[in-house]
Amino acid sequence: MPATKRVLLALTGASGMPYAWALAKALAAAPGVETHLIASEAAAKVLELESDLTLDDFARLAARVYSQNQLDAAPASGSWRCAGMIVCPCSMASLAAIASGLGHNLIHRAADVTLKERRPLILTPRETPFNRIHMENMLRAHDAGATILAACPGFYHKPGSIAELADFIAARALDLLGLPQTLRPGWKEEEGAGE
Ligand SMILES: Cc1cc2nc3c(=O)[nH]c(=O)nc-3n(C[C@H](O)[C@H](O)[C@H](O)COP(=O)(O)O)c2cc1C
Repeated sequence: MPATKRVLLALTGASGMPYAWALAKALAAAPGVETHLIASEAAAKVLELESDLTLDDFARLAARVYSQNQLDAAPASGSWRCAGMIVCPCSMASLAAIASGLGHNLIHRAADVTLKERRPLILTPRETPFNRIHMENMLRAHDAGATILAACPGFYHKPGSIAELADFIAARALDLLGLPQTLRPGWKEEEGAGE
């Protein structure tokens, strides 16, 4: 493993771009972490519709950017070392493709590779309500080794902004990857709150 940890961040066309932005910033702030970014075409559309951000904003925080059609890019191969992959937000379409092992675009192929190499794969699915197909796909992905990090931020820390809600999910994603984050301490881990 290189000293620098590569993390693959994939944006797909579900609502929830503030989560992806919080993640991109947290990964950029994590020492020794290099973000490799893939955005689906639908993700670019949703980003445009629901935020003031552009893909260039994300690209500025990344070491490398790939298009979803670059099936010959490094993350398509298991020999490319990577500390883990996060699909955030994860559309139901991409969830279905990943749960079915389809590798028709680089996001789905890289997720498939991540699972076969037994590296951490974190999916942040977003839809409501879920139908049976969505839930079955989450279970299939989970049983294949993925972690379903639902876009369900807690409210017990009394968030005052969308950014704080998004940071909640970003912090959990970095925790799951074993990466340092300063967005949120663990429950009751604030200074002086220990036992
Ligand atoms: C504004 C907008 C919001 C969307 N939100 C969601 C969503 O929250 N969840 C979802 O599964 N699909 C959502 N979609 C539909 C997906 O973008 C669509 O299924 C797309 O084909 C997903 O492609 P991808 O998985 O390659 O990114 C949304 C589409 C648009 C235009």
